Amino acid sequence: MATETVKRRLAFQKSYSQEHGGWRRKSLIDDAKFETLSNLEFEKREKIHSKGDSISEEEDVFVNGDAIVTSDKSNKLTFGIILSLKDGSTNIGPIISLFENFRITIKHIETRKSRKSDAHSEVFLLCSGKKDGVTAATTNIQKHSKVSGVDIISESSPENKPEIWFPRHISELDKCTHLISKFEPELDLDHPGYTDKAYRDRRQKIADIAFDYKHGDPIPRVEYTQEDINTWGHVFRQLKKLFPTHACKIHRDIFQVLEDECGYTADNIPQLEDISNFLKRKTGFQLRPVSGLLTARDFLASLAFRVFQCTQYVRHGSKPDYTPEPDCIHELLGHVPMLADPGFAQFSQELGLNSLGASDEDIEKFATLYWFTIEFGLCKQGGQIRAYGAAVLSSYGELLHALGDTPERRAFDPVKTSLQEYTDQDLQPIFYVVESFEDMMDKMRNYAANIRRPYEVRYDPYTQTVQTLNNKDMLHSVTRDLRGELEYLERAIDRIQCLTMTGR
Ligand SMILES: [Fe+2]
Repeated sequence: MATETVKRRLAFQKSYSQEHGGWRRKSLIDDAKFETLSNLEFEKREKIHSKGDSISEEEDVFVNGDAIVTSDKSNKLTFGIILSLKDGSTNIGPIISLFENFRITIKHIETRKSRKSDAHSEVFLLCSGKKDGVTAATTNIQKHSKVSGVDIISESSPENKPEIWFPRHISELDKCTHLISKFEPELDLDHPGYTDKAYRDRRQKIADIAFDYKHGDPIPRVEYTQEDINTWGHVFRQLKKLFPTHACKIHRDIFQVLEDECGYTADNIPQLEDISNFLKRKTGFQLRPVSGLLTARDFLASLAFRVFQCTQYVRHGSKPDYTPEPDCIHELLGHVPMLADPGFAQFSQELGLNSLGASDEDIEKFATLYWFTIEFGLCKQGGQIRAYGAAVLSSYGELLHALGDTPERRAFDPVKTSLQEYTDQDLQPIFYVVESFEDMMDKMRNYAANIRRPYEVRYDPYTQTVQTLNNKDMLHSVTRDLRGELEYLERAIDRIQCLTMTGR
């Protein structure tokens, strides 16, 4: 049944991808908006159900990843229940009917062999309903002839609303792999690789690397074809001519290091594993292979751990100047140089930390901010405007356009920028300009202080864990660490002053 749920979810997503055009530039904003709408739609269906209107089975199942969503308007309980069924039965039709009689909505179903006895099977149900109905249903279910055990494993109410799940340890990013719009050349008639079977097979092999990847694995190397290398070389040569006059200083400086140390040349596509190791040494960021665009929530969550989800395939060689999907040319030429800068890495991680546990509406705003900064950001430098956004820096046409006379350029203001409508049908009509990265960081911190979240989070790099700062012990522990750091700083300042006074 869980497989059926996943199939329906995937079918829903694919129809979104196809309806909204596989042949246009995609962004996290679309994904975040899509998630928000999906969740609102789900809640709407819940409301209809509670009024007793009928809804079809096909409409009734939609699970938001691992998060349990509870409406606080309808006074409902959300709970998980494990039923042990006799004789290995998996016929749960009558049980579902019983729940429906008591107006209990089943959001998710999984069946499995019992861990206690081979002769039994277990069914996990994630349900939601009003308190009276829940009590009556769980009492009645225990009398059902097929049921040998009932275990209610969680319960929530509007007063005890469950938090939205997010990864606490870096290894839990293995669960953050929900693809929202997976571009597959074989599914999209307009994709340049649609009729190229060899290209499609190569893409599938590279996608399998991402599907099989687990935290801690080295990223498998890809043997790129001569066609891939030619495509990379075409883009590389074009952009290298523009970088000195169009890219920000950070990008220019680190790009030079990448050329000197990491094999960034026109005839070599660097391997993600090598670049990931380079980033670890520079800023603690690392790459993780991904086969397409993730949900905005999952993508932003990975940034909280200084992990950048990175594609590994190369766009089709027939259209080297344009790709509707992120590819490794975009990642390696646009994102990697910026992620190697300590200040920019900090900004990226803070954006990720702010997204953890945030509401769908806030995720949509963070995805918009990501779009207008990390992808399409411009900055002031020595009286000139320069590009620091990866989507601009990895596209010859976009880079010329962004710094040309046509687009409107506005001062970055997170409150306004987060609400800016996004255009994806053409070159960007609006760009946001930051005074400096420090200024951008200050503004983002002020903005994040006002989002609706009952706690702050902090990343502990020693344990690679996100800590929720919601109790006194935790705050004491953080204060102790900070006090220690401040003492080191004071001593360092004293030593410098001492050296200055003695003239040494
Ligand atoms: Fe990107």
